[in-house]
Amino acid sequence: MLDNDDIARNPAADRPFNDIVEARISRRSAMGGGLAAAAAFLAGSAAFGGVASADMRKTARGAGGRHSRGRGSRDLLGYNAVPLGYGDDVQVPDGYTARPFIPWGTPILGSYPAFVPGTPPLVPGGNTAADQAQQIGMDHDGMHYFPLERGQGGNERGLLVVNQEATSEGYLHTGTLTDPNRGAYTADMVLKSQNAHGVSVVEIARDDNGEWQVVRSRYNRRITANTPMTFSGPAAGHRLVRTSADATGTTPLGTVNNCAHGYTPWGTYLTCEENFNGYFRLDPGAYSDEHAELNRRYGVGGDRNHWSTHDGRFVVTPANPNEPNRFGWVVEIDPFTPDSTPVKRTALGRMKHEGAFVHTSKGGRVVVYMGDDQVNEYVYKFVSAGNAQSLRARRRSPLDDGTLYVARFNEDGSGEWLPLVHGQGPLTVANGFADQGDVLVKTRQAGTALGATPMDRPEWTSVDPRTGLVYVTLTNNTSRTTPNAPNPRTPNRWGHIVRWQERGGDHASTSFEWDIFVLAGPGDGVDGSTVESEDAFGSPDGLWVDPDSRVWIQTDGSQPGAANNQMLAANPNNTDVRGVPDIKRFFTGVTGSEVTGVITTPDQRTMFTNVQHPGENGESTWPHHDDFATPRSATVIITKDDGGEVGS
Ligand code: FEO
Ligand code: CA
Ligand code: CA
Ligand code: CA
Repeated sequence: MLDNDDIARNPAADRPFNDIVEARISRRSAMGGGLAAAAAFLAGSAAFGGVASADMRKTARGAGGRHSRGRGSRDLLGYNAVPLGYGDDVQVPDGYTARPFIPWGTPILGSYPAFVPGTPPLVPGGNTAADQAQQIGMDHDGMHYFPLERGQGGNERGLLVVNQEATSEGYLHTGTLTDPNRGAYTADMVLKSQNAHGVSVVEIARDDNGEWQVVRSRYNRRITANTPMTFSGPAAGHRLVRTSADATGTTPLGTVNNCAHGYTPWGTYLTCEENFNGYFRLDPGAYSDEHAELNRRYGVGGDRNHWSTHDGRFVVTPANPNEPNRFGWVVEIDPFTPDSTPVKRTALGRMKHEGAFVHTSKGGRVVVYMGDDQVNEYVYKFVSAGNAQSLRARRRSPLDDGTLYVARFNEDGSGEWLPLVHGQGPLTVANGFADQGDVLVKTRQAGTALGATPMDRPEWTSVDPRTGLVYVTLTNNTSRTTPNAPNPRTPNRWGHIVRWQERGGDHASTSFEWDIFVLAGPGDGVDGSTVESEDAFGSPDGLWVDPDSRVWIQTDGSQPGAANNQMLAANPNNTDVRGVPDIKRFFTGVTGSEVTGVITTPDQRTMFTNVQHPGENGESTWPHHDDFATPRSATVIITKDDGGEVGS
């Protein structure tokens, strides 16, 4: 989506970097070959005993050509790569079928109102706000599939839970790319926009022909920008989340800009609030120093979608400045209990949350990995205070009780998790942190105070269930002028992927060993990219390591050759002499879209992915070229024609 993530909000990035970083860069430069060699050194220097580095060393001994790859491990990428994509249709490899599913406007609730596209210049003609509340929202993003039955039945019937990140206001209201002007907005248009945001829960099942269909189910549900929610954790009821409409600071309304997601071992869904800041109109006036800094650091303002024209909740004033502080959280939703109230889990921190990947570690503790998507912001993890099952048996949420950490990546390949705990280190009253609620509402400032490493826009995280390696996509940073070890390119036009192994394989550990998995770009060393030219990609964003260790990589942003966004898979067990993994392009999106969200059924025979905002920057009529002129974000169901596992 279009956003302002590439505006630096973090003053720490303006500081000269520490001497260690400078030394690392110059040492790598001295090895010869400049940045490309530096990248190769980094990629091959994994100090940890991970699968990939061991494989790399084995390959290096018997290396023939520069791109020779190890043999012996099962080839996880058993399909023929598709070329870069252009135009208004998706591509999948030969032997696969792709089918659009639940496009924006699909009725799932209530009176099941049929989709009617907007008509220029404005409604009437399109669906109303009330219709939209009973239909799939816009801009499908992170999602998860929850089986509804054990065993084989779970591969044929489940709940698909989909984030609806944002709206293309023009298509929403007028059926064209052209945004209505601010003055034209009616109360119903604002409400329709709000109802197109949030999360959709929809039961789906395979019919007698094996085709996935929407089920008219009691589980089907829309969560929007107006759904009643509660706060839990240390910032619930805090002075910084109280407003004139909610003096208790405990009953926030709605969720917005739900980007990536997570899911828990106890069967709930986590939706993550990313670019919440832009939905507010920031009125001028005499803000306290504290609020002025919060507004600045989180970039509050912009009046996106003009909600302020008919909803005073989205107007920020010095007298009522806290509504933005009620966003930027991870929200827990129980999809199996349709009347349950979503909970904003404040212990997980407040940032432009991209996703929240949950991994169960030693001792049954849950660990949640998270990225804050803005240039020079940080990577975080939350570790529950104890065994998740025993906490839940005592009716305590593992997501309320625990410690939030921020990552520091050291030059030598080591790293540390720094605790965001009030009273520890610099997180004191003297430094503007009165209590743990302050630390959490001001998570970004706390991370800076602790000396976290500014990153190139951290997006999704994922843990390889076989090796425990943790991956994070760093989508790009065109404004970076000073390199640091995990973000070596200046500027970083194409993005990269960093990964790490927690010490002793314990995800609750406070130290780790990291390396760079791949530097994206046109390939063969251009702009420092480590990929082969046939695997060219840029702006990695969506990420998922499947049960076989395939690393699915999805893109959102500039692609080499100005191609459409795409999804590729990497095999971390098959690396070349430089330690760079084998990669194959699997899917390409359509004009003006990003590719985001990926999950399979438990048997890995049905894959769900999303094409978000087709036509955002050009002509598109995807997916129903014949039916409607209006492009519609949609899920895409991908199956292998021989019924095999996707990717095999
Ligand atoms: Fe919603 Fe950072 O992508
Ligand atoms: Ca997006
Ligand atoms: Ca994203
Ligand atoms: Ca993105």
